Amino acid sequence: MSETVTLDPQRIRELFDLRSDVYATRGGSFEKDPYPDFHRLRETGPVHPGIVGPLVGYHGAAFFQGLPYPELPHFSVFDYATCQEVLRDGDTFVSKPTAPGPELDMSDSVMLYFDGDRHRRYRALVQGSFVPKRGAWWTERWIHATVHALINTFERNGRADLNVEFCAAIPLLTICGSFGVGAADALRIREAATSDGRDRAVLAEILLPIIRARRLEPRDDIISVLVQAEVTGEDGTREALSDTDILGFALLLLAAGSGTTWKQMGITLLALLTHPRWLEAVRADRALLRPAIEESLRWLPTDPMFARYAIRDTVLGGVEIPARSVVHLCFAAANRDPARWERPDEFDPTRPPGAHLGFGGGPHICLGMHVARAEIHTALDALLDRLPGLRLDTDAEAPRIVGMYERGPTSVPVVWDAR
Ligand code: HEM
Repeated sequence: MSETVTLDPQRIRELFDLRSDVYATRGGSFEKDPYPDFHRLRETGPVHPGIVGPLVGYHGAAFFQGLPYPELPHFSVFDYATCQEVLRDGDTFVSKPTAPGPELDMSDSVMLYFDGDRHRRYRALVQGSFVPKRGAWWTERWIHATVHALINTFERNGRADLNVEFCAAIPLLTICGSFGVGAADALRIREAATSDGRDRAVLAEILLPIIRARRLEPRDDIISVLVQAEVTGEDGTREALSDTDILGFALLLLAAGSGTTWKQMGITLLALLTHPRWLEAVRADRALLRPAIEESLRWLPTDPMFARYAIRDTVLGGVEIPARSVVHLCFAAANRDPARWERPDEFDPTRPPGAHLGFGGGPHICLGMHVARAEIHTALDALLDRLPGLRLDTDAEAPRIVGMYERGPTSVPVVWDAR
């Protein structure tokens, strides 16, 4: 695992900075706190014509699920009940885009854009590797060693910015490891999986030799699960996945698995560091760590929205939605709906548990949520064990949560009592 320390520090900082060009089309540098606007909008109705970004003051370029599609009507949903209504009504709202656009070229091979039976059949192929009881497999195979190798690199320093070299490195190395991709190619994979054009050539160059090797000799990893999987067609025949199918899965898992947990881990850390009462409570009683992670996903989810497409005329929250509209579900706003949560703006890990939308909901609910939870839990538990007196570095520039379509911290500066 000494490999983990060889990620190029300069390159990883460029690729994991929400304010860099990489995130320009995700509104990465948007500085405003959108939650007061979410409340204001929700108070006048659950559904509004328009797109979440412009409705809260972000007018920059946008490339995210459901965006841009300038020729389609757009609506945004800000309450919990209506988000759930859309997520559960697959006869009216689908994930496959209804118009040519930036996502359409991916919609034939990436499960995020599949619907109904086809989605169920493809998701079932990998679901077994992502169920809660496989959490230990991910932790023992990749997460634990990566977390501890990274802490080894800074343990004696007494001071660190955990945002990039720690929070970003753990999920990147975990998901790459599960695809048989070593640290040497991890940053190229990240760059390819996040570029707007999704640089398939680079992904294929790195992954095709691994796919071929696993077809000959499977190992205990995700890519071996994919090469051995058989998908059942509509006529009942069973077929192995093609290289193109596997690359589609890989693109989704490598993109979804390497960026989200980075930001959510930073958000969870900052939530605790800026609420010292909760930091102390979690340090003293690790049983509180799990609820603290769930609360961070409710309080400030890194993916604040996802979209669906209406395939027939309908009415939502009293608003008429024509067929082919894009409906943006603002999970971040729904997660602070006062109709569902008391004191919704407060970060309180002891609040009564209740399903939030930090991982989405319905058939597309995050496939990797148990892996993400295991990564954040293992990482924070180890930090609290190994860095005595861990606290916010008040001499460093104050960290901020930024971003519109992807949200996360500018930094996570900490100090501790180094031995
Ligand atoms: C804290 C970290 C994470 C957050 C907040 C998050 C959030 C989400 C959300 C909101 C969705 C639903 C999208 C929709 O409804 O259209 C989703 C889907 C998905 N996520 Fe995550 N995710 C995280 C980590 C991961 C990880 C670590 C992986 C893989 C190892 C992963 C893989 C996926 C996949 C494959 C889907 C698509 C599922 C489908 O279409 O059926 N995610 N994620």
